[in-house]
Amino acid sequence: MIDIDQYLDEKRKKVNRALKKFRAQSGPAAVIDAMNYSLEAGGKRLRPILTLAVADTLGSEDDSIIDVACALELVHTYSLIHDDLPAMDDSDLRRGKPTCHKVYGEAIAVLAGDALLTLAFEVLGSYGRQEGYAGKAIKIIAELSGASGVRGMIGGQVLDLEAEGKELTRAEVEDISAKKTGALLRAAVICGAIAADASLEEQKILSAYASNIGTAFQITDDLLDLESSAEELGKPVGADRERFKPTYPAVIGPEEARREAEIFYQQSVASLRNLNQPAELLQELARKLVFRKK
Ligand code: IPE
Ligand code: IPE
Ligand code: MG
Ligand code: MG
Ligand code: MG
Repeated sequence: MIDIDQYLDEKRKKVNRALKKFRAQSGPAAVIDAMNYSLEAGGKRLRPILTLAVADTLGSEDDSIIDVACALELVHTYSLIHDDLPAMDDSDLRRGKPTCHKVYGEAIAVLAGDALLTLAFEVLGSYGRQEGYAGKAIKIIAELSGASGVRGMIGGQVLDLEAEGKELTRAEVEDISAKKTGALLRAAVICGAIAADASLEEQKILSAYASNIGTAFQITDDLLDLESSAEELGKPVGADRERFKPTYPAVIGPEEARREAEIFYQQSVASLRNLNQPAELLQELARKLVFRKK
């Protein structure tokens, strides 16, 4: 039996230690302080943990996978800084602290986000400079850049903003969630798989696992916005309703949204049965991600 809480705790600490390694050493203090502020404000580190868990499941003992995991967290943290900007969700609280732009101003927050995004690819460049790693690094860079761009997270964020105040169908909400949130979660899994030398067959199975988690993850995020507290979440609640966002619970109702999350979770763990390795860790992780309280 895997103690998933202990695993999460251990890996979060490992990710936090590793991220310190990538603290910018030189450059204007304002932007460096803002980058470190958002990166070290907390956060569950679920994307890098997914990367590490996939590598663990596939039996990889390559220590440098932590660099790939950190790249995922760098892109994710940048996406949160920009998501909170007044021109986007206009949020004052993130990870239990005032948002980046509240502390450092909008211009520096935009630039700190840009710098974290670029740093992610600098980190992957260094990963690829290790003897024999260039091929893998190119594939990882292709996955992560694709998932972060207009076909993935950015595309989803645009659709999310355009949807404010509109009535959407279930299929349209699903498409937005898959892009704005699912794409990066899927990249976390696939990059871990590539780093661990997974076969194409294994990547296909893990891709199905991750895509289903991605949608369920966003449904839970939408439900928490409706039902949790700012104290628990470390970010404002009721924000989606305030901005007339057609989220899952808004479009299909909270009860149906909960059922939908359960279905995506079941589909996610069902795909793991096709894997040759025991996948209890990934199964437990999916449960934690979908049925989380914050
Ligand atoms: C929040 O992600 C944004 C979404 C994509 C839903 P997380 O819930 O993983 O946020 P942190 O990293 O723990 O702050
Ligand atoms: C965020 O979705 C998706 C991102 C790409 C950052 P939300 O706007 O719902 O995330 P929160 O609720 O602010 O964390
Ligand atoms: Mg948003
Ligand atoms: Mg938001
Ligand atoms: Mg949200």
